[in-house]
Amino acid sequence: MDLAKHLSWRYATKRMNGKKVSREKLDSILDAISLSASSVGLQPFTVFVIESEELRKQILPIANNQPQITECSHLLLFAAWDNLTEKRVDEFIARMVEVRGGETESTQRWSSYLKDKAKNTPVEANFNWLARQAYIALGTALVAAAVEQVDATPMEGFNPAALDELLHLKDKGLRSVLLLPLGYRDENNDFLVNKPKVRREKDKLFVEL
Ligand SMILES: Cc1cc2nc3c(=O)[nH]c(=O)nc-3n(C[C@H](O)[C@H](O)[C@H](O)COP(=O)(O)O)c2cc1C
Repeated sequence: MDLAKHLSWRYATKRMNGKKVSREKLDSILDAISLSASSVGLQPFTVFVIESEELRKQILPIANNQPQITECSHLLLFAAWDNLTEKRVDEFIARMVEVRGGETESTQRWSSYLKDKAKNTPVEANFNWLARQAYIALGTALVAAAVEQVDATPMEGFNPAALDELLHLKDKGLRSVLLLPLGYRDENNDFLVNKPKVRREKDKLFVEL
């Protein structure tokens, strides 16, 4: 597989044509998200997979009327934990013990490190750290979508508070962070279709020491 070729093919698609992404391709993108790295392995977010046209119509004005919201096949919403809590740490440790076997010194160390962080870090700082983990998963999703030849548009251009309200995310202890419409480019109407990528010169981007 030529990964660079896939990454050159992808772009932040501005118009989509409504064509449906198959369950198989969608699952492969979701699997990649699930396998993505996260700090401590917490995966402190929920990804909502929104196919409902009705719901996407309601989200449209909240996302600055960006047409991909209703033209896509599935809209992914990455919503991060609003805070780190003892309960969440306990659940994470329990899952680790379930998968890897009995408690060890290292699981106990992680547990107390995280509980200490939960208690002593301001909520907003904790949230910012947790939200950053969603960005890593977004990056992985973008690569997976490109490999599957599915178009995708990473989006911060929406009103998180309004989306949280629409989906009652506060009750779930979540805050919306990123949107990712998945679908297929509308070759006739997307002004970006054949535009070359703009990237900083490699000698500015990379420093070899
Ligand atoms: C975190 C993030 C937020 C973005 N938000 C939006 C957005 O709201 N709407 C949009 O059309 N593109 C959005 N973009 C797309 C970027 O403008 C695009 O990735 C960048 O210009 C590089 O181009 P390329 O992805 O087509 O290679 C976002 C990208 C990232 C990574």
